[in-house]
Amino acid sequence: MTTETDTEVRLTSYEDCRDGYRHQGFRQALYDDGVVLMSDVIVNLHGDAHRARRRLENRLFRRDVFLRWERELVPAAILDALSSSLAEGRADLVPLARRAMMTIAAAIAGVDRPEGTDEEFDDLYGVMTRLSRASTVVHATGDKEAIKADGLAALAHFERRFFAPSVARRRDLLARHGSGLLEICPDVLATLLVNQERLELGPETVLREVAYFPWVGSHSTSNALAHTMAHTLSWLEDHPGDRHRLESDPEVVQRFSHEALRLHPPSPVALRRALTDVTLGSGREVPAGAHVVIDVVAANRDPSIFGPSADAFDPWRPLPEGVNLWGLAFGTGFHSCLGQELAGGVASSPGDPASEVLRGSIATMASILLRHGARLDPADPPTLDHQTVRKHFGRFPVLLG
Ligand code: HEM
Repeated sequence: MTTETDTEVRLTSYEDCRDGYRHQGFRQALYDDGVVLMSDVIVNLHGDAHRARRRLENRLFRRDVFLRWERELVPAAILDALSSSLAEGRADLVPLARRAMMTIAAAIAGVDRPEGTDEEFDDLYGVMTRLSRASTVVHATGDKEAIKADGLAALAHFERRFFAPSVARRRDLLARHGSGLLEICPDVLATLLVNQERLELGPETVLREVAYFPWVGSHSTSNALAHTMAHTLSWLEDHPGDRHRLESDPEVVQRFSHEALRLHPPSPVALRRALTDVTLGSGREVPAGAHVVIDVVAANRDPSIFGPSADAFDPWRPLPEGVNLWGLAFGTGFHSCLGQELAGGVASSPGDPASEVLRGSIATMASILLRHGARLDPADPPTLDHQTVRKHFGRFPVLLG
């Protein structure tokens, strides 16, 4: 085993960060502080164990499934979350988008909500907020030991109220239908239960994996929505004539969401540990044991890739071949985001059949908000979340109608 050292290597160019993400000589290290909650979770696995888990779960993230979510479930979820706000003429976008995406991400995870009550949903929402904070404790402000203890308490509550009944229902279906369970419940939990023995997955591993999806799917997406709306509303102040175009053309909103993701990747850094001596494509050397910081914010503003205006918001900037407008916001390589197409859609080309175009949940939600007249409230401006050093909005109030 490699001895871990205090040496820190910070990768900041686009090329080094891209290669760092893709190098098998680096293992995940973002969750080392929150390992009690993240041990054996897909994003924290390496090598063969990661490949096996990813191959299984990848099957759930298919284009046709995303299409249905985007056409039906995401609009329904955001409109449901919006319903009371429309009557009041105001909304806070952060909980609004988190709730909408949590509905989707909990369904992907296989977390049942049999009561279907607001109280049940609020409980799940609260548990996920605590799990998110404890799992990414490396970036939390405040007493880290207390945050981790709170995360473990939240996980125990999640297990009792949500996980155990969801497992029981699937085990019953598994006994009656065998692997036909996956047709009835196409979700992470059912997938893991069907393959539990073959992959030797302990019950605690299944619990942590299922608990990971609702918060990772909803928190990053809601944060991206807030940044998309911040840039879009500020753009409209400077270009008031563009309102109709933005309200009516989801492709433009999608470009805005990708540019906002580039400037504000929800995970500003990825952390890795070098398992061996590594030389990156640029010649940069990283010694075995080093702590590697992949500075995604810096990479996404690398002027050699994104041009001299890399720090500015310009959804129509020219890009080199093979580079996406969102830069490395979804990672790349073996841990690249499984929910990328759900959140960000697919960059389309002219002539693509409309029935296959995916705009992504961020653009879908932003389009709906713009069509409902979303605008900043001068008396109540957005504020950042001070519980994390990440640049996430804590509140994003808008007026509607
Ligand atoms: C704007 C929204 C999102 C952003 C920016 C984002 C970003 C990322 C990034 C950067 C990674 C790689 C982490 C690393 O290499 O250390 C990642 C991994 C992952 N994301 Fe996302 N994510 C988003 C939404 C989602 C959604 C909606 C889901 C699922 C419902 C999801 C599920 C995952 C999973 C399962 C992984 C781990 C994949 C693996 O380790 O093989 N993400 N995401």
